Amino acid sequence: MKRDRFGRFGALVAMAGSAVGLGNLWRFPYLVGENGGAAFIIVYILLSFVLCLPIFISEFVIGRRSQKNAFAAFRDLSGGSRWKWVGLFTIIVPLIVLSYYSVIGGWSVEYLFKSLTFSFTGESRSTFSTMFTNFVSSPWTPLLCHTVFLLMTTLIVIVGIKDGIEKFSKVMMPLLFVIVLAIAIYAVTLPGASAGLNYLFNPDFSKIDGSSIAAALGQAFFSLSLGFGTIMTYASYVDKKENILFQSTATAVSDLMFAMIAGVAIMPAVFAFGLNPQSGPGLVFDTLPYVFGQMPGGSVIAILFFVALLVAALTSSISMLEVAVAYLVEEKKMSRKWACVILFVICWLVGALCSLSFGPLSDIHINGRNLFDFFDNLSSNVLMTLGSLFTVLFVGWRLKKADIYDEFTNGGTLSRNAKLFGVLWFLIRYVCPVVIIAIFVSGLL
Ligand code: PFF
Repeated sequence: MKRDRFGRFGALVAMAGSAVGLGNLWRFPYLVGENGGAAFIIVYILLSFVLCLPIFISEFVIGRRSQKNAFAAFRDLSGGSRWKWVGLFTIIVPLIVLSYYSVIGGWSVEYLFKSLTFSFTGESRSTFSTMFTNFVSSPWTPLLCHTVFLLMTTLIVIVGIKDGIEKFSKVMMPLLFVIVLAIAIYAVTLPGASAGLNYLFNPDFSKIDGSSIAAALGQAFFSLSLGFGTIMTYASYVDKKENILFQSTATAVSDLMFAMIAGVAIMPAVFAFGLNPQSGPGLVFDTLPYVFGQMPGGSVIAILFFVALLVAALTSSISMLEVAVAYLVEEKKMSRKWACVILFVICWLVGALCSLSFGPLSDIHINGRNLFDFFDNLSSNVLMTLGSLFTVLFVGWRLKKADIYDEFTNGGTLSRNAKLFGVLWFLIRYVCPVVIIAIFVSGLL
């Protein structure tokens, strides 16, 4: 069967689209808030480039070398061994993540709707917390929003690689960039913004300890979509002529840039209105709407912000869905449409449980967490780390060094890649597994 191919720019924006998501706009700013501002950012940058970039490249190599879905990639590159079960693992994990990601994607649908109907004006701070709590704990509206979000994701993926995912990313990623940048520029001109910038850019290393390093690593994995089979699957649609080092670095840099610009868009505004930057996951949905209600021109900024949040979430959610779609189409010979419909139903059901876990199902706990937190914690702290560990072990210890070299340097024709290969190989084979295991074990303890 002939597979679709991304164009060069298409591949770049699709990968960047997968990486840039709620992780950048929703998670990164509140983690920075909770973990000591700039010091956390420095640790995050180090981990992103020393540890995560080699993992990203490993996934890229597996995908592009095999030109297959994640299951077949592990199976065929290892000559049909048990590694294929790792492939299956990297297909199931993004489905779990997609299920609860879609719940938050749904919240951004609701908040976009609220901003379009100008619901953020003039009320007191507590009104917004109550608005948020009432919304997430009610049964129907969040469920409806989750459905809408998942439906949009599924429709884009049904259309296909070139006409769906690539076209959508090509239009939406530049738009996203312009919106987030515009909000950031506006935010730094607010009176009192400098306290927010100080907070972001003045490092306080006393805040850095084992748990903030683990948080930075978890965030870096999540933000770069590592350990999920996503990058592998997208890479399998990338042309053999493209430069893996360039594409991977460009994705990591744009991901970091988006996270930083999002920080600059959010923190100065939070400080300008004397609010607490450490308000956790609610930062975007309860602190920011209040800020929007206070600032001049805030209703327009609110609309732009929630459009950005929705777009960022969609370009990521489509990448999660594609992993399993590619598997069902290629291995189970399903039509793309049927694969999408079946996966929609599964993710909708799991997501519905997560959505209801803020309200009617809030009494159900696994390991002391509600269902949403359980899935979020399981996938971002355990499954994703395992996926990344398996990936580097596979590339570093199972595949042939000569094959990795061949793929990474396009048959020896890219001289810069050839020069850097030694360092990359060392990082993939030794540094990445050791550090991942160390952080994973310390996290478990
Ligand atoms: N990188 C995305 C974000 O930062 O929101 C999340 C994500 C996308 C995770 C795709 C995993 C994935 F496979």
